[in-house]
Formats: sequence, structure tokens, C-alpha cells
Amino acid sequence: MQPIGPLMIEHRLIERMIALMGQELSRIQDNVAVDPEFAFVDPVFIDIAVDFIKTYADRCHHGKEEGILFKSLAAKPLSPEHRRTMEELIQEHAWARETTAKLFKAKENYLLEKPGALNEVLENLGRLVEFYPGHIEKEDQHFFLPAMNYLAAPEKTEMLQQMVDFDRQLIHEKYRQVVEGIEQRRACRI
Ligand SMILES: [Fe+2]
Ligand SMILES: [Fe+2]
Repeated sequence: MQPIGPLMIEHRLIERMIALMGQELSRIQDNVAVDPEFAFVDPVFIDIAVDFIKTYADRCHHGKEEGILFKSLAAKPLSPEHRRTMEELIQEHAWARETTAKLFKAKENYLLEKPGALNEVLENLGRLVEFYPGHIEKEDQHFFLPAMNYLAAPEKTEMLQQMVDFDRQLIHEKYRQVVEGIEQRRACRI
């Protein structure tokens, strides 16, 4: 398998979550159209979607793109077009990270019944739903395959192994952070 294989497989799962987020967005918008007072945000769905984007799409998937694939490509004689595309992809990851944090904050504001919070949730959910398909298409159709031409076969094999090792660490990192997060919150209360 080429090292872009696992990344493209991950794209398919991200697309499925983005489709679910789009359905949730439509549901809330439909309710707002009928009666804004009747519209409600499902905070559990938002928490699950934010965790998916933060842990799977960003830490696991963008983490391998930036930390393994792009890092190796940065040292290669990329064409100006490919280098520009790679820089755009990195900027897009940063934008998605910020927007996901805004969505989480909007959901918190919604739970606190702050004015405008419902719109903040809709705006940031909508931005992510609109963004991801284009980002994925840019990688799948315009970057990943030409990028493979810059790598020799042994480099590709090594890269694939690095991706396996990266993934193996993640479950431990994730739940270490869960425990540390609770410990820190308790320490703040003492
Ligand atoms: Fe990406
Ligand atoms: Fe990607």
C-alpha cells in the first residue's frame, strides 16, 4: 500500500461524519424556519462531532499528513504549484482547528443560554460542513498522487510504518489527556 492509502481511507470516514453534521445542521435550520423558539441544539451530538474532528480528523489524520507526509515532502524539490498547495493544506488544517474550537465554545454558550449562541453554533457547524469536502478533494484529486512521485519506494515503505507507529500511540495519548484533564479540573477546585 502507498502511504496515502491510510489517509484516503480516513477521508472516507471523515466524509461520513461531515454528512451527519450536515444533517444535524439542516435539522436545526428547519426548526428555526418553523419557530426559532422551538429550535434546539443537541449538545451531545456537538460534543461527539467536536471530539471526532479534534481527535480523529485533526490529531490522527492531519497529524499524519503534517508530521509524516508533508514533513518528508518539505525536504524534496517540489514544484512551485505543489509547494503552494501543501502550504494551503497546512493553513486549512489550522483554520479547521480554530473553527472546531469556536463550535465547542458556541455549544458551551448555548448551554449557558447566552444571546446569539444558537447562531454561533449554526455558523461554525456550517463552516466545517462546507469546508471539509473541498479540502479532501484537493488532497485526493490534486495533491496526494503527484506527491508520491517525489518519494522513492523505500521511503514510502518507511513512511507507511511511521504512520502505523503514530496511530498506535494515539489511544494512549487520548486517554492520558482524559485523565490529566480531570486531574487538572479537580486541582483547580481545591
Ligand atoms: Fe488535510
Ligand atoms: Fe486529509
